[in-house]
Amino acid sequence: MDHFIELASLDNGTVRGLLQSAHEIKAEWKASGSSNRLRGKILGMIFEKPSLRTRVSFDVGMLQLGGHALMLGPQEIGINSRESTADIARTISRYVDGVMIRTFAHSIVQEFASFSSVAVINGLTDATHPCQAMADVLTIEEHFGRLSGIQLVYIGDGNNVARSLLWVAAHFGMNFTLVSPRGYELPQVDHSAVASLAKANGANIVQSHDPHSAVKQADAIYTDVWVSMGMDVDQEQRNQDFLPYQVNAALLQQAPSDAIIMHDLPAHRGEEITDEVADGPQSKIFDQAENRLHAQKAILVALMGSED
Ligand code: CP
Ligand code: NVA
Repeated sequence: MDHFIELASLDNGTVRGLLQSAHEIKAEWKASGSSNRLRGKILGMIFEKPSLRTRVSFDVGMLQLGGHALMLGPQEIGINSRESTADIARTISRYVDGVMIRTFAHSIVQEFASFSSVAVINGLTDATHPCQAMADVLTIEEHFGRLSGIQLVYIGDGNNVARSLLWVAAHFGMNFTLVSPRGYELPQVDHSAVASLAKANGANIVQSHDPHSAVKQADAIYTDVWVSMGMDVDQEQRNQDFLPYQVNAALLQQAPSDAIIMHDLPAHRGEEITDEVADGPQSKIFDQAENRLHAQKAILVALMGSED
């Protein structure tokens, strides 16, 4: 693995290896609280959108591994406004051992990686959020002790988070139901692209418009914001279209009582999820947030760690 940009382009063994490593690194950290796996290594972090979890978990993750992270905010770099993506990539590669980028167009991260001589990690684009998906499978596997055959039901917008969950489900043989209002599904091209990986791993992928029937067999119910960062859309229209898809107590009553509730955060409480569900006993949302740290450490070590 040279970069961690999208789950679609990583082979199954690599993705499975990263999850295994995340479990091990988490256990090691909980047991000893120290590590030097990335001693002296420096991660550059480029943010063109706001962040809490990604920014803090990468920064803290690098520190806990004996390295250092460098924050470059939206005012500092100016991708394709102050300087071209290619020139930024070629320059920053001379200073750091790896780069994490959160940006708008997915093609920026791809172009950046093509000009970078150090590893590039996708910290969210308009199209994908693969670090989140790795933290999510870590959370699900910790809870259920397995991923294969798990029924993951995502209710909401066919967005970056949904797309990365689709791919991670296909990698790990989870059954994945995407429940969206009409017009907000993931495009057919995504379903076609993932089909052979899903089949190879026994993952059943379903697109639905009916949250109440979808949650009946759910092990995990996942939701995300109705309007993602940087989207230029009619918020009022979306609120109206998505309201029947809110994850609330009435919906939860239709699901098995041991189903878990997931959200990548930040949550717009009262919109896609209600307080009683987000803060209820089935909620795993802060475990997911913590697991960003452990899942990303596995990615950082795989990309930046030395061979010995
Ligand atoms: N889930 C997530 O990526 O959170 P941030 O936007 O706060 O980084
Ligand atoms: N879909 C959300 C995820 C935030 C972590 C967004 O892109 O804003």
